[in-house]
Amino acid sequence: MGRLEKLRAVSEIPSILVTDPTNVRYLTGFTGSFGQAIVTETRQVFVTDSRYRIQAGEQCLGWDLRTFQAPIKGLDFLRDTVKDLGVSRLGFESDSVTYDRWDSLKGAFSGVELVPAPGVVGKLRMIKEPSEIEALSRACALTDACWEYLRPKIQANVSEYDLALEIEFYFRRQGAQEAFSCIVVSGERSARPHGTPSDKRLQHGDFVTFDFGAKVDGYCGDITRTVVIGEASARHKEIYDAVNESRAAAIDAMRPGKLGLEVDQLSRDVLAKYGLDGYFGHGLGHSLGLQVHDSPSGMRDIEIAEGMVLTVEPGVYIEGFGGCRIEDDVVLRASGAECLTKSPRELLIL
Ligand code: GLY
Ligand code: MN
Ligand code: MN
Repeated sequence: MGRLEKLRAVSEIPSILVTDPTNVRYLTGFTGSFGQAIVTETRQVFVTDSRYRIQAGEQCLGWDLRTFQAPIKGLDFLRDTVKDLGVSRLGFESDSVTYDRWDSLKGAFSGVELVPAPGVVGKLRMIKEPSEIEALSRACALTDACWEYLRPKIQANVSEYDLALEIEFYFRRQGAQEAFSCIVVSGERSARPHGTPSDKRLQHGDFVTFDFGAKVDGYCGDITRTVVIGEASARHKEIYDAVNESRAAAIDAMRPGKLGLEVDQLSRDVLAKYGLDGYFGHGLGHSLGLQVHDSPSGMRDIEIAEGMVLTVEPGVYIEGFGGCRIEDDVVLRASGAECLTKSPRELLIL
């Protein structure tokens, strides 16, 4: 079944206005910054302005393309298009439309009932199609290749900034992009799970955490590796091994039908054996796709199903000492989780 058919099958409202750019891309293939899709029981209309007329014609195959240009205003054009389609009840993406936008839609669409339709396209995006898994595999492979490229450059005295730049340049040189601004944090700074790179230079005895990913054909990779500079203490090793055991146990336990919450708990139980569970403050993982935190985001709220692509990223963060996270991306097959990221997970001392 194509994406449009799936949308029509799951949507409780016969006509829906899709405005979230990622959802628009997912449904139509359009990669520009301004476009809206209207899907009714029998029609699919794509609305954009003259800047994107040629691009939309190439990308939105099978869509009835409607474009406007100045001095016509976008909202007026959208209103006239909806009127032309004879729609009297229109679902809208209430989980992303701002209050102000909703207010102006309501003002413009007199005679059309606007019905909240949160997460309809997002639910479809959770289960990846084979072509999406293929794109995610390529994003993960490029992410792994970047790690291999980066490793010899990770040395004492190199700054976090320099390593972050290496990551970004590497992806750009390969015609890809960063899926998100990378995290490079060292020493005590590695206790910040989402710290940003700084001018701090790596020092002997630092934990250094790298969290980064390539975006390839719109799809995101997301990996974390933690290394130690110079020499690993017993504490480094205990923390690293506990986090790695937690990661491996979670991946082993994942299979269709299992609750994400159970897997999340299992990862915490492993850390608890070492008295470290209190230092793991975030969720175990999230859905991965066109967004790095794909829709719907958190692992804890889902039942795992075949075709999902999820991250597994336990971590231990101790203020004043440092932190360690190890993250892999997995695709769920009928038999269990298969890792898309393949970089080695043994503790590296560099
Ligand atoms: N870099 C964000 C995450 O791993 O979720
Ligand atoms: Mn990450
Ligand atoms: Mn992640």
